[in-house]
Amino acid sequence: MVPSFLFFSVMIRCCCSALSLPDVPNIASHFGTKTRYEEVNPHLLRDILSVNKSVLRAPSSERCSPVHLTAVVRHGSRYPTVKNVRAIDKLSELVRSQSPQDSTGWRRDILKRWKMWYTDDMDGQLVHKGREDVRHLARRLSVLLPSLLGEEQVRGGRVRLLTSSKHRCISSVEAFQEGLHQQANLSPVSDVRYSHQVDDELLRSFEHCRGYVEGVENNRTALAEVKKFKHGHEMDGVRKRVAARLGLPEDSFTPDLLEAAFFLCSYELAIKSEHSPWCLLFDEDDAQVLEYKSDLKQYWKRAHGHAINSLSSCPLFHHVFRTLDKAGRPRRSTDASPEPASILIGHAETLLPLLSLLGLYKDEAPPTADNYHRQHGRSFRTSKIVPYAANVLFVLYDCQRGPRLQLLINETPVRFPGLSAEDVPLYRDVRATYRHLLDGCDFHKECHGTSAGRGPNTEL
Ligand SMILES: *[C@@H]1O[C@H](CO)[C@@H](O)[C@H](O)[C@H]1NC(C)=O
Ligand SMILES: *[C@@H]1O[C@H](CO)[C@@H](O)[C@H](O)[C@H]1NC(C)=O
Repeated sequence: MVPSFLFFSVMIRCCCSALSLPDVPNIASHFGTKTRYEEVNPHLLRDILSVNKSVLRAPSSERCSPVHLTAVVRHGSRYPTVKNVRAIDKLSELVRSQSPQDSTGWRRDILKRWKMWYTDDMDGQLVHKGREDVRHLARRLSVLLPSLLGEEQVRGGRVRLLTSSKHRCISSVEAFQEGLHQQANLSPVSDVRYSHQVDDELLRSFEHCRGYVEGVENNRTALAEVKKFKHGHEMDGVRKRVAARLGLPEDSFTPDLLEAAFFLCSYELAIKSEHSPWCLLFDEDDAQVLEYKSDLKQYWKRAHGHAINSLSSCPLFHHVFRTLDKAGRPRRSTDASPEPASILIGHAETLLPLLSLLGLYKDEAPPTADNYHRQHGRSFRTSKIVPYAANVLFVLYDCQRGPRLQLLINETPVRFPGLSAEDVPLYRDVRATYRHLLDGCDFHKECHGTSAGRGPNTEL
């Protein structure tokens, strides 16, 4: 049920007009990497701490118990970056000065009076809601896996935390620890000090990969499909429709301003939980076109579009499997118990290359500027894969037949490609599936054309 106070506050914002907006815009699940986590898991809108333990699916006949969690987590909701702040400023100024008074029901009066409140210094920082995103995620994971993230492990300082150096990630890693402490009923300051390590070579390895920086990031032709679609007829149709709704001349309303309006709608929802009047400019078809534009960019810049995109995350791939190898190694009863959990906080551009390397979300035909209409059923949908606080969870179990591994994405079970018969395959079968990467995926070779790097991962 929609809480009535939300309705009420929206109506006040709309200056008591007859128009009452539902609290969530109907286009909210199309915001790509700017999508709220709740759009992917709507049951959290009712209870943000609800946990469904049936997502853990180790075979009950084998008396399995979880022994380790490696979680790769994206930071929570954040402010726009400077580039987007400036685009939003330009948009609101244009509408304020050029958009004619309304007579058509597009709420231009509200948009013309909308007050710009984003500033350059907000530049991509975590917002309050973003802290909550991550804090709540930590609490749910602690309930889901109490033996790995519960009081004993938190009190003992046994949870390892690594993060990207970016401000929004540092704030997220603190929020994650806050959540764990809260769940374990430890006082946030006195009981245990928060601690984490910064590791950009692991979590922002793409920056250190010359083949990626030169071949994709700084290469205008690598994103040719994105550019073509941005100026193609689907986007142009949306641009013209929205310009007409704003009463602006088509020429003055550029594709960048169109995107700024769409992002503005997404930011107002993610940051302030508001149904912004800017959202009214878009219907669901428009939103799907803009979503596709974002997906195209992520696909060609961070995912399957170019092999080097995923290979730039070889260090993270090896790190995850080395950690799992160690945790799953046979132990005598006198040995110390393995590290219960390793939490890695990064970005959408940390998660997408790793997921691509694992072979996930690879559709038969790559998305291009020309096949929008054939891509409606695509699995590569960043709104679903990498919303704010997105997470990739590797849960290792100790079972009678040996260690087993389960993959969850955004707290939902996902099967490894090539092992699609089982939710929780034997770990040795997972390793066999990725043998070519475990034996290769050499960062130095792939990124710099030299083989001076670390040797192949031959453990187990
Ligand atoms: C928990 O998830 C299972 C599927 O994994 C579903 O069948 C069940 O209804 C869910 N239970 C609750 C209380 O949401
Ligand atoms: C730039 O990208 C294009 C298309 O992917 C590729 O053919 C070309 O080799 C790249 N250029 C560089 C310098 O890597």
